[in-house]
Amino acid sequence: MRVSSLLAAAMATFVAVAEDWLLVSRPVCNETVIGGFTHPGIFHSCEDLTRAQTKVWNKEEPWYTAFGRMFNESLVGLRVNGVNAYNIRGPLPKLPYGQDAWSSNFTVDAQYGYLNALAFFLTGHPFHRERALHTVRRWMTELNVLEEYIRGGNGLRYLTAACEILRSITTSWWLEDDTKLYHDFAARIRKNWDKSNGMARPDLFFNQGAYGNGGAFAMAIFLGDLELYQQIMEQVTVGRNPDPTIDYAIGMQIINETGFQGQIKEMGRDQAHPAGMLNIVSLMAYSAEIQGDLEGQIDYVDLFTFDNSRFLSGLEYYSKFNLGHEVPFKTIRVGYDSEEYWNQSARTNDRGIIYRDLHHPTDIGSLNSPTAAYYRYRELVGSEKMPYFKKFVEAQTLGFDSLLYMRKGNYEDLNFIWDNGYGASYLDVISGPGANRRFSEPGETEEGTYGNSTFRDVAVVKANTTISYPAFFAVPDKPFLRLEARSSEGTDIRVFGQMNQDIANYHVAASEKFRTVYINTTLEAGSPNQFLYLYTSKNVEIARFNMTGAADTNTTRLDL
Ligand SMILES: *[C@@H]1O[C@H](CO)[C@@H](O)[C@H](O)[C@H]1NC(C)=O
Ligand SMILES: *[C@@H]1O[C@H](CO)[C@@H](O)[C@H](O)[C@H]1NC(C)=O
Ligand SMILES: *[C@@H]1O[C@H](CO)[C@@H](O)[C@H](O)[C@H]1NC(C)=O
Ligand SMILES: *[C@@H]1O[C@H](CO)[C@@H](O)[C@H](O)[C@H]1NC(C)=O
Ligand SMILES: *[C@@H]1O[C@H](CO)[C@@H](O)[C@H](O)[C@H]1NC(C)=O
Ligand SMILES: *[C@@H]1O[C@H](CO)[C@@H](O)[C@H](O)[C@H]1NC(C)=O
Ligand SMILES: *[C@@H]1O[C@H](CO)[C@@H](O)[C@H](O)[C@H]1NC(C)=O
Ligand SMILES: *[C@@H]1O[C@H](CO)[C@@H](O)[C@H](O)[C@H]1NC(C)=O
Ligand SMILES: *[C@@H]1O[C@H](CO)[C@@H](O)[C@H](O)[C@H]1NC(C)=O
Ligand SMILES: *[C@@H]1O[C@H](CO)[C@@H](O)[C@H](O)[C@H]1NC(C)=O
Repeated sequence: MRVSSLLAAAMATFVAVAEDWLLVSRPVCNETVIGGFTHPGIFHSCEDLTRAQTKVWNKEEPWYTAFGRMFNESLVGLRVNGVNAYNIRGPLPKLPYGQDAWSSNFTVDAQYGYLNALAFFLTGHPFHRERALHTVRRWMTELNVLEEYIRGGNGLRYLTAACEILRSITTSWWLEDDTKLYHDFAARIRKNWDKSNGMARPDLFFNQGAYGNGGAFAMAIFLGDLELYQQIMEQVTVGRNPDPTIDYAIGMQIINETGFQGQIKEMGRDQAHPAGMLNIVSLMAYSAEIQGDLEGQIDYVDLFTFDNSRFLSGLEYYSKFNLGHEVPFKTIRVGYDSEEYWNQSARTNDRGIIYRDLHHPTDIGSLNSPTAAYYRYRELVGSEKMPYFKKFVEAQTLGFDSLLYMRKGNYEDLNFIWDNGYGASYLDVISGPGANRRFSEPGETEEGTYGNSTFRDVAVVKANTTISYPAFFAVPDKPFLRLEARSSEGTDIRVFGQMNQDIANYHVAASEKFRTVYINTTLEAGSPNQFLYLYTSKNVEIARFNMTGAADTNTTRLDL
C-alpha cells in the first residue's frame, strides 16, 4: 500500500470525533512589524495561525482532529469554579529558585493561558478570550521576582506567547494598557539580570540555560529588544558559557565528531532534560526564522541549518536512542573543575519514557516535544535525512504541533497508523544487549504456568535492563494482570496507563522462582482501549504479561 493511502486510511478514523466546541467567529490576525520585529512572531506567525484557523473552519483533516485535541486540552486546566472564576493556580508575587511547586503553578497557568489564546483565535469563542486574558493579566500584575530557570523560564515563554497572540488579534480585547502591563512586568523581572543572574544569563547548566534563555528570547521578541535578542541568539548558537562543557548551545552541546555525530551531552544524564532543550531550541529556531534579519538590523543566523544542521544531527541521535536503538556514546566530563563524567551507564533511566513521566498536566505530547522542527526540516532536507526523527514524530501522533506546523508538502508522508485516537504518544523502547520482547509462540513451553497453555502472552520480555512495552488493550471488564517473571537480583514490574496512571505493580523478589501472579489493576470495567506501558525497572531475566479476567481482551501489537 502506498504511504499516502495508509495515511488516508488512518485519517478516516478521525472523522467520527465528537464536536464539543462552537466555532463562533473568525478573529483576524493582524501582522505588524515594529522596530524590525514581526508580530505575532513567538512560536508561530500570522500565517501559521490563520492557516490553522482556516483548516479548522473547513474541517480539514488532519488539522481538525489535531485541533480537537488541543481544544480539549485547553479546557482541562482552567475549569470554572465558584471560588476562583477560572481556577488559576496563581498569581504569586515571587517564584524563588528551588520552589518548583510554586513555579509549576506559573508554568501550568501560562500554558493554559497560551492554549486558550490559541483556542480563542481558532474558534472566536469569548469564553477562551476571557480565560486567556484573566490568566495573563493576573500574573503580569502580581509577579515581581522570577528566579526559577526551568519552570519559571517555561512559564515566561508561554505567558509571553499568549500575550503575543492576544496583542495581534483585533477582537481580543487586548488593550494598550495590557501592552504597558507587560512592559512593566518585564522591567520588574529583568531588573537584576546580568552575567550571573536572571533568565538571560549565559552560564547556566545545560537544560537550565535553554529554559531561562528561551524565556528571555520570547521576552526580547515581545518587547522588540534588539540587544537582548542578539545576546540570546549568540548564546543558543556558539554559546557564551564560561564553562563550555555545560553549555546548552547548539554548537557546544551537540557533538560533531566522527563516530559520535549528534550526541547530545546532557543525554549522559537522562533523557527528559535534553528533551526540554530540544523542544525549546526548536521553537527558538522557528521564531528566529519568522524574525529573520530584523529588517537588516542583524545578520540572520538560521538555527536549523547552523553549523551543517548540527541541531538536526542531535534530534536524529536523540530519536534513535529513545526509540530503542543503540548509539555510540562518548564519555564526557561535566564541568571544567569537576571529576564528574557521564558515560553509557547513566543514560537509560528514563529512556523513551519522557511522555509518560509527566511533571504536570500540560507537559504532554507536543507541548513538550521538538516536533515544530520536524516540519521545517522536512521542507529543508526531506525526511530521508531524518528517519528516526520521523518515526519519533509519528509516535507523537496528531496534536498541537500538527495543527500549527503542518502545511502542504511537509506532512503527507507521515504515517500515523498507530494513532488510535488518544492524542498520546508512545515510544517502543528496548535496550541493552540481548534485550527483546515479543508475543509468546503458540504452545511455547518455556517455564511458567501458562507457558504451555493456549493463552499466549502479550509480551515476553527478556532483558537485563529497562524496558517499556507499549500496547493498546481493550478491556471491557475489570481485568487482572497476569504476570510471570524471574530475576536473580529482584526487580519491579509495573504497568502504567494513559502515560502516567499506576495501573499495577509487583516486586519480584531476588531469586524468586518463576511463578505466575495475578495483580488487580485499577482499570475500570468498560474501559475503552487503554494505552499501557509494561515496565520493568532492571535486571529482569524473563517477564511475561497478559491480561486475564476480561471477557474480551483485545490487544494490538505495535511494531516500530
Ligand atoms: C474532546 O472531548 C470530548 C468530551 O470528553 C470527547 O467526546 C471528544 O472525543 C474529544 N475530542 C478529541 C478530538 O479528543
Ligand atoms: C499552586 O496551585 C495549587 C492549586 O491551585 C494551590 O493549591 C497551591 O496553593 C498553589 N501554590 C502556591 C505556592 O500558591
Ligand atoms: C493592526 O495593528 C496596527 C498596529 O498596532 C494598528 O495600527 C492597526 O489598526 C491594526 N489593524 C487592525 C485591522 O486591527
Ligand atoms: C563538523 O563535522 C564536519 C564533518 O566532520 C566538518 O566538515 C565540520 O567542519 C565540523 N564543524 C565544526 C564546527 O567543527
Ligand atoms: C561510568 O560512570 C559511573 C559513574 O557515573 C562509574 O561508576 C563507572 O565506572 C563508569 N564506567 C565507565 C566504563 O567509565
Ligand atoms: C503444561 O502445564 C501443565 C500445568 O502447569 C503441566 O501439568 C503439563 O505437564 C505441561 N505440559 C507440557 C507439555 O509441558
Ligand atoms: C542478567 O544478569 C544476571 C546478573 O545480574 C546474569 O546472571 C545473567 O546471566 C544476565 N542475563 C543475560 C541474558 O545477560
Ligand atoms: C482483587 O481484589 C479483590 C477485591 O477487590 C480481592 O478479593 C482479590 O483477592 C484481589 N485479587 C488479587 C489477585 O489480588
Ligand atoms: C491473553 O490472555 C487471554 C485470556 O485471558 C487470551 O484470550 C489471549 O489470547 C492471551 N494472549 C494475547 C496475545 O492476547
Ligand atoms: C482490537 O483492537 C484493534 C485496535 O483498536 C481493532 O482494530 C480491532 O478491530 C479489535 N479487534 C477486536 C476483535 O475487537
